[in-house]
Amino acid sequence: MTSLAAVILAAGKGTRMRSKMPKVLHPVAGRPMIRYALELPEALGASPVVVVLGHQTDHVKKVLPPTGWQAVEQTEQLGTGHAVRQTEEILKDFPGDVLMLYGDVPLLRVETLRQLVETHRRSGAVATVLTAIMEQPGRLGRVVREPAGRVVRIVEALDATEAERAIREVNTGTYCFQASFLYPALQDLRADNSKGEYYLTDVIGAACRAGLQVQAVQTEDWREAVGVDSKADLAMAEAIMRRQVLERLMVEGVTILDPPSTYVHPQVRVGRDTVLYPNTYLLGNTVIGEDCEVWPNSVIRDSTLEDGVVILPSCVITGSTIASGSSVGPFAHLRPESVLRKDVKIGNFVEVKKSLLGEGSKASHLSYIGDVVMGKDVNVGAGFIACNFDGERKNETIIEDEVFIGSDSQIIAPLRIGKGAYIATGTTVRKEVPPHALVYNTKDQVHRDNWALQRKPKADTEHGHVEQAQSED
Ligand code: UD1
Repeated sequence: MTSLAAVILAAGKGTRMRSKMPKVLHPVAGRPMIRYALELPEALGASPVVVVLGHQTDHVKKVLPPTGWQAVEQTEQLGTGHAVRQTEEILKDFPGDVLMLYGDVPLLRVETLRQLVETHRRSGAVATVLTAIMEQPGRLGRVVREPAGRVVRIVEALDATEAERAIREVNTGTYCFQASFLYPALQDLRADNSKGEYYLTDVIGAACRAGLQVQAVQTEDWREAVGVDSKADLAMAEAIMRRQVLERLMVEGVTILDPPSTYVHPQVRVGRDTVLYPNTYLLGNTVIGEDCEVWPNSVIRDSTLEDGVVILPSCVITGSTIASGSSVGPFAHLRPESVLRKDVKIGNFVEVKKSLLGEGSKASHLSYIGDVVMGKDVNVGAGFIACNFDGERKNETIIEDEVFIGSDSQIIAPLRIGKGAYIATGTTVRKEVPPHALVYNTKDQVHRDNWALQRKPKADTEHGHVEQAQSED
């Protein structure tokens, strides 16, 4: 089989984005655009993969995967043909085809590229271009065909005649080339056009003039192959990708009550019969099991929910694992490394951070549980605080099985509370508690008889105002 290499052009400034950030770093569905471009050659088994960078190169390299690509730098952006020339040293003797991609085309599907490569190889063409039919082709290059339909050249909108500008078939900028044709052809490029750039598109015309075969493959849907050039394009790409993800989930049996207000990143997996209520965000590498309920206004990122978990409204859940039968919220915050075992209940205004809650444990109201390892069937009363930070270090609290923590209690970590211990309401626990002990602080209750009566305001009926009683103290 012929070998396949890939080049990803990503040196352009992306001026029309009007951004400080390089264009290919703008995220679509949570991932920088260039990551999508890199996935395509990988899926097709292309190697090597050469990325042409030129603008804030170090920033771009940081978001690329650690392996599977090499970068070349185009220090001056003198056009797409000039950009490809930068890969010459690596690819000029490559014994096969070179797939040419842009770093700013996040919706391109691997099936489309497979079709491009297959057509290219079946026909024996030296170059095959991916084209699209567009109602408003704007500034894109037009594909000029001879009456019999053969592609003869690509003309940039700026250099086109009026008749050529009326052509609706555009060059998407994605191609497959025989390396043995491409690199010699690049040598002959001239920058004698309205932009004064070296156009990669000119190699298509050159091939035709030399009597070599050029093929074109048309995309079924123009949107998949069109690049992101502006913030408006970015929003469009985001909307298309989001809709695709939701459609896939619905085909897989997920119930989505209001797709327009549901945001799910492409890597997220959701089991069937799970219900996503409006305004749900499932982000990053989140995995949700079957029969879960995610009620409105929650943001769940990089978390795993087993089957049958219920997330009540307005929760933020990050980097956490929730076992089946558990429920969280409303208004709860699970921060990274929180683990809820089976049938745990986290209620309203509870924050959990880097803590494990054993099976059947409950914290139903207003608590902070940070750096806690909690056993089974622990009951945490309202207003509990694990005081984990001493100003320098984060300290751990161990709460063994079946401990009862009364409301408004604090545990000053590091500490261990023995199995079955009972912490009375309003206790500050400073020392280790043995199993099955009762712990409380001695704070005597003092009261003064009738004190409140003497403070009571007297109504001055004549003047219509209230006088404050004088305290005798
Ligand atoms: C190019 C095509 C045009 C096609 C359009 C599709 C040429 C001459 N024209 O237009 O026919 O319809 O793409 O989007 O090829 N880049 C570099 N270095 C450069 C210039 C560009 O790496 O010096 C990269 C950009 O980062 C981008 C891609 O090439 O990823 C396309 O550049 P862009 O300026 O958007 O395309 P045009 O040249 O306008």
